[in-house]
Amino acid sequence: MATCSAPGKIYLFGEHAVVHGEPAVACAVELRTRVTVLPAKSTSVISNGKPLGFGGGPYIENTLKIMEKFLVLPPLSIRIDSEIPIAAGIGSSAALTVALLRALSIEFGVKMDLSMIAATAHRVERVVQGAASPTDTFVSTMGGVVVVPERRHLSPLGCKIVIGEAERGVGEKTREMVSRVAELRETYPDVVDPIFNAIGRLTRNGVRLIEDDDCKGIGRLMNINDGLLEALGVGTTMLSRLVHAARDAGAFGAKITGAGGGGCIVALTDDPQEVARGIEDAGGRAIVVEIAREGVREE
Ligand code: MEV
Repeated sequence: MATCSAPGKIYLFGEHAVVHGEPAVACAVELRTRVTVLPAKSTSVISNGKPLGFGGGPYIENTLKIMEKFLVLPPLSIRIDSEIPIAAGIGSSAALTVALLRALSIEFGVKMDLSMIAATAHRVERVVQGAASPTDTFVSTMGGVVVVPERRHLSPLGCKIVIGEAERGVGEKTREMVSRVAELRETYPDVVDPIFNAIGRLTRNGVRLIEDDDCKGIGRLMNINDGLLEALGVGTTMLSRLVHAARDAGAFGAKITGAGGGGCIVALTDDPQEVARGIEDAGGRAIVVEIAREGVREE
């Protein structure tokens, strides 16, 4: 039996534009998905106490398919316990894929170092999502604050992170949101490319501000990034409500995080309780999170 856990993530800057070649900064957060695997008489997947049908869903199915290239897998009992809101844009599927790969590699003695885990998990996301940047899977594997595509770690932020959950079930929509943005770009390349470009530029500026631990500056750029995500059409009424509630409660900045179309916002602040209250008063669910310095690990 092997049990491994991997963290979720938020984007400080750059989601969507990163799929089109711009840089992004994401940060692993201390909400973990734990996966236990052990050989069994027949394959079953239990997630947070409930059995999952259809082979456990596309991320598990495709992870097992890739592992079958290294060895013949026996039937497995797979147990998942997740603190990450499922399908809410906080990287629950990347954490699941990464933790499952690590647990399988330990249980069956397949040599996979962390960069191979990250690369293999990225392959799984590409298959399931159609297009995927390496951000979610790399950050979940390695932990910390990371600039992609360089895969360089930045120093952790001095201020606090508050997540505001608006609607659940956005994860299933990642594929749809990514292809919707791609379609917008194909239709109006001269309009959308400058938006991607501006997101890339604010991300590069954001990297410098993170290195200086300038939370006020980082927050201002997050606000600009949110406006540009709105322009790409991935906002919702509820996400906007929570972004503004967080800012009104004194956050340095707040933005949509992840694919959008529902899911979560992220805010930076020195006063997490006040920002969490603002988000809850606006109808969201607030989660105050710490940065996860460690990525995937054996439990
Ligand atoms: C989803 O968490 C982030 C997107 O940029 C897609 C990706 O990077 O694969 C929308």
